[in-house]
Amino acid sequence: MSNIVIVGAQWGDEGKGKIVDLLSGDIQYVVRFQGGNNAGHTIIVDGKKYVLHLVPSGILHDGKVCLIGNGVVLDPVIFAHELDVLAGQGVDVSPSRLKVSAKTHLIMPYHKALDMAREKAAAEKKIGTTGRGIGPCYEDKAARIGIRAADLADLSLLKAKIATALREKNVLLASCYGVDPLGVEEVFAEIAPLASRLLPYLTDVSSELEAARKAGKKALFEGAQGTHLDVDHGTYPFVTSSNTVAGNTAAGTGFAGSGKDRIIGILKAYTTRVGEGPFPTELHDAVGETLRRNGGEFGATTGRPRRCGWQDIVLLRESVRLNGLTEIALTKLDVLSGLSEIKICVAYEYRGQRTDYPPQEENGLGAVTPVYENMPGWSEPLEQYTSFAQLPEAARAYVRRLEELAGVPITLVSVGPDREQTISR
Ligand code: GDP
Ligand code: IMO
Ligand code: MG
Repeated sequence: MSNIVIVGAQWGDEGKGKIVDLLSGDIQYVVRFQGGNNAGHTIIVDGKKYVLHLVPSGILHDGKVCLIGNGVVLDPVIFAHELDVLAGQGVDVSPSRLKVSAKTHLIMPYHKALDMAREKAAAEKKIGTTGRGIGPCYEDKAARIGIRAADLADLSLLKAKIATALREKNVLLASCYGVDPLGVEEVFAEIAPLASRLLPYLTDVSSELEAARKAGKKALFEGAQGTHLDVDHGTYPFVTSSNTVAGNTAAGTGFAGSGKDRIIGILKAYTTRVGEGPFPTELHDAVGETLRRNGGEFGATTGRPRRCGWQDIVLLRESVRLNGLTEIALTKLDVLSGLSEIKICVAYEYRGQRTDYPPQEENGLGAVTPVYENMPGWSEPLEQYTSFAQLPEAARAYVRRLEELAGVPITLVSVGPDREQTISR
């Protein structure tokens, strides 16, 4: 069986949701393995817009089973809300086609309070998190005081765990950040009523996937965020709190895999980043503004404007290696239409020397100067094209050059947000 792993090759928002939706046509299981509702995927099908934060992007296809693995952190309030929104849009989100690992950690109100309080106190030094409590929830998981989805089946255990967590959290909130402490009863009263809503969705994701494998079914593992937001391999400390790389599919689902996966990196034709942190190819000029406007580069989760810049091959090669990418899906090529010239960063100047690798030390990436190669742009819009051969020669040359520099084939080229606006190569 050949499974598919999809990961972001940059700093998130590469268009993973669109490509997951597209490729889940031939797949029976679509599985999230990390992250939480810091993710925001906008998917357009036949002109209708869906925004997903927790529910896997395969949900828009009938007959797929969507799984949320143990590596995800799940906010029960947001999960219930997302189910309501999708049901209102006519999507079947019943427990027969959407299941959550009983081992998934829950984001609690104090995680969100702490995330926001820390960011506010850090002021200029903030990470620019989504404020969704992601980091504090993963901290509690590692500290072994986390609350897992299965705990909702035992409300006295739930209350006792909330009390344990709040003993420390309230000291932090009140003493370090001057925020009102949270009461055990207040937190319990917010979460406990969601138990009956969530419990029907709980399952053993690892066993489900093993049974699927034995039955010859295929799974698609849907990464959230992007490679350079990985807690180990990304631009630390300006990262998220999970491993976003493809290797985390095993730990984040309990499925060891077949060893024959297609590992697809989703790459935007240019680069964007939301939040703080180094971004060597960032544009602070009219071209950056044009990319933001033409690409609609505003976050699906927080609405923040995304920082925009040129393609960065140094970081892309890292992504190829860190994930073991077997192919790349290139998105938003249409957004580059109208630019007279397109730049590709092929190396960095760092401390007077040319280098092909990002510096490893903290702040190193913030001190590099990109070395650019220039390519001619094209003027015509690309949205209407359905084959690679129809694209203007300059657009084809740009795709071929990226492929050559990355050392991995670009098998899909996306020229618009709709499922249909995709060229297979
Ligand atoms: P994700 O988090 O990686 O799934 O990406 P987001 O959904 O946050 O951001 C990608 C945005 O670009 C969404 O609004 C998509 O609808 C849109 N999009 C995806 N592919 C294309 C494309 O090829 N062209 C254009 N113009 N928009 C695209
Ligand atoms: P998708 O799946 C882009 C960024 C935040 C911040 C950093 C840490 O839509 O691509 P966190 O809330 O995770 O502690 O924030 O990570 N970030 C994302 N940026 N796309 C995302 O998800 C992101 N999820 C987190 O902006 O810089
Ligand atoms: Mg997104």
